[in-house]
Amino acid sequence: MKTNVLIVATLALSLLAGCTSQQASVASLDDLFLTRRSIRSYEPGRTISEAQVRELLTAAQNAPSWANQQPSKYYVAISPEKQAAVLEMIGGNKDRVANAPVMIVSTFEKGKSGFFRGTPANDAGDFWGAYDNGLSNCYLILKARDMGFDTLIMGMRESDKLRELFNIPENEMILAVIALGYRAEEPNMPVHRPLDEIVKFF
Ligand SMILES: Cc1cc2nc3c(=O)[nH]c(=O)nc-3n(C[C@H](O)[C@H](O)[C@H](O)COP(=O)(O)O)c2cc1C
Repeated sequence: MKTNVLIVATLALSLLAGCTSQQASVASLDDLFLTRRSIRSYEPGRTISEAQVRELLTAAQNAPSWANQQPSKYYVAISPEKQAAVLEMIGGNKDRVANAPVMIVSTFEKGKSGFFRGTPANDAGDFWGAYDNGLSNCYLILKARDMGFDTLIMGMRESDKLRELFNIPENEMILAVIALGYRAEEPNMPVHRPLDEIVKFF
């Protein structure tokens, strides 16, 4: 009898452990690379909490940056009013992401990454800030997929209007708006250039 109870308890515990680990991340990095796609149709009526967005942005903070300057900044439209306002500032992207509940505007502080005491360290200047912002955003979109969300990075946006809406200071360069939601389409894999067209070994 005692042995039976022990077996049942062990089974229950291992089932519980299985469920818990399924709720956490199960995807390999390669799975994330494959299933992360630009999504241009989202399920209506779904929400994403501030705590979940904070988790994404904490992942973004793990990205490397020039001398740990961390120039990336984020402005999150999570209220329905602000989400609707951002939709009017992304041109033709509006119809693609109208049902995505969260819009994240990414910027970087100019004159930080790639600079040493106010002087550009080399010819790339503020491009290093854009580089760092892209790295952070890459972490963000992969973490989003890992958490079961989908994204669209949008370069087509009206930066002047976004600056006014979120009171973004002039020393920040506004880059992408990232839509965050739940996919309502199964996207095609984009065609990638042959590797030998983009790489040269010496
Ligand atoms: C910097 C940047 C800007 C982009 N801007 C837009 C955009 O305004 N609208 C859009 O539909 N897709 C946009 N995309 C998505 C690209 O079209 C997409 O990443 C590319 O076609 C490859 O597809 P995949 O993301 O599914 O791999 C952008 C992507 C990046 C990285």
